[in-house]
Amino acid sequence: MIIYFSGTGNSRFVAERLGAALSDKVIDASRFIQEEKGAVFTKSGTYIFISPVYAAAPPVVFMDFIRRSRFPEGCPAYFVMTCAGDMGAAPLYCEKLAYKKGLHYLGTVRVVMPQNYLPFFRMGTKEENRIKIEAALPVIDRIADAARDGHSLPDPGTKIWERLLTPLILKPFYKFLVSAKAFFSTEKCIGCGKCAKVCPLNNITLTEKRPVWGERCTHCMACINLCPVNAVEYGRWTRRKVRYGGPESLTKD
Ligand SMILES: Cc1cc2nc3c(=O)[nH]c(=O)nc-3n(C[C@H](O)[C@H](O)[C@H](O)COP(=O)(O)O)c2cc1C
Ligand code: SF4
Ligand code: SF4
Repeated sequence: MIIYFSGTGNSRFVAERLGAALSDKVIDASRFIQEEKGAVFTKSGTYIFISPVYAAAPPVVFMDFIRRSRFPEGCPAYFVMTCAGDMGAAPLYCEKLAYKKGLHYLGTVRVVMPQNYLPFFRMGTKEENRIKIEAALPVIDRIADAARDGHSLPDPGTKIWERLLTPLILKPFYKFLVSAKAFFSTEKCIGCGKCAKVCPLNNITLTEKRPVWGERCTHCMACINLCPVNAVEYGRWTRRKVRYGGPESLTKD
């Protein structure tokens, strides 16, 4: 069973590739997350959890979903973290989660994918992003091999300062930074509703054909990156910045 959370599509891309390689079911956790519910999984077998890294840890909404869910006792569990370069202390959170849920932890692995945190970083060019995804393919295939054979993944070697620092930054990160308050749409908006459709938290509604952001945002950056006419901005941080259109956008043109 492959269970993922994704904003701009990197983690979905990895989940789907793993699903195809392992002929396994792929489940998008966002429908449960939207309802603040867990799920009851009854099927024995290998569980693979996939999500982006947010501030050196898995997204809190995804961790909450796993905490609320139930799994058959003792099933092997792998965690795959897509990130722009560094997964920090994410493996520690994943190991703890597996232990709490009675799963048999077989490791956490990083898959480096294009950066999507638009307000604070430069998005790669199409060529840079294509190269990153190309380099990720053999990593994903090795995860599939490990899962097929039931092997554990190598220890990623989390550094001591990552262990100590991440829990300290995580709370203020969510408390002071993660909010939809700075999002707005510009006059370029054509009222297509894509921002609302792609929000994995169902946090956007359309009023008079313009998006209105609610209180439940996890800063996944789907709304701002995937708007087809670049009509979403985040305060003054994103003006004139190139957007990341997700893995599918790299196969176009
Ligand atoms: C809120 C937020 C925090 C992020 N923090 C990190 C991080 O700590 N380390 C990192 O390498 N990438 C970080 N990124 C980049 C994403 O993890 C990366 O682009 C990921 O593959 C996006 O996955 P998605 O397309 O499935 O949403 C962050 C992105 C966002 C939106
Ligand atoms: S995706 Fe862009 S153009 Fe479409 S409704 Fe949202 S802001 Fe407007
Ligand atoms: S409002 Fe935008 S950034 Fe926030 S969760 Fe929804 S799509 Fe992601």
